[in-house]
Amino acid sequence: MADWQTYYSQHLYRPPRSLLVKAVSFCIRKDNALDLGAGTLIETKFLLDSGFKKVTALDSSPEIRTFAEGINDERLTVEVRPYQEMELPPESYDLITASYALPFYGKEGFDAFIARLVSALKPGGVFTGQLFGVKDGWNVPGDKRAFQTRDEAEELLKGLTIELFTEEDKDGIVASGEAKHWHIFHFIARK
Ligand SMILES: C[S@@+](CC[C@H](N)C(=O)[O-])C[C@H]1O[C@@H](n2cnc3c(N)ncnc32)[C@H](O)[C@@H]1O
Repeated sequence: MADWQTYYSQHLYRPPRSLLVKAVSFCIRKDNALDLGAGTLIETKFLLDSGFKKVTALDSSPEIRTFAEGINDERLTVEVRPYQEMELPPESYDLITASYALPFYGKEGFDAFIARLVSALKPGGVFTGQLFGVKDGWNVPGDKRAFQTRDEAEELLKGLTIELFTEEDKDGIVASGEAKHWHIFHFIARK
């Protein structure tokens, strides 16, 4: 899924993800937030509107710079780089959100990637997003995205306090309109 144009065109005006809205209510401090795979920056904008003092939006797609032009806010830092190349200082974020974005890291090193994100959370910090389940329609031989069983997904969040963990397993469509089976774990976890 290298070309995100169709996806972005359908995610310009929707409300922020309800999972993130709920996750922010668990934040005890709002100093520093990270939006991973930030896309059209709707969630980034929501974090700024929620009062975070500093928000970093990271995505490998250069298009996010254009979306950032519509947000004139000195609290925002935009980073165009792949997850694999980002710096994650330990205990630096009060919130890390990755809305439908984590599995695109890829299979190789995925567990270590999640561990790095957890380590980058401050004590009490909140981690929220989605993991893709093994029954997902994209989980076919050769696909590069990361998929987990429910046990594996729970294991990745081990050591965190789980505030919400739900499983979605249903037929639906993708941005292009094609049919697809979705198997997704939605989570809010706290360090
Ligand atoms: C499904 S979109 C989700 C966008 C937004 N978070 C949302 O909820 O609408 C996934 C995003 O992850 C980004 N992405 C995919 N692989 C990435 C990688 N390896 N490093 C950084 N960003 C990546 C894509 O460019 C895209 O914007």
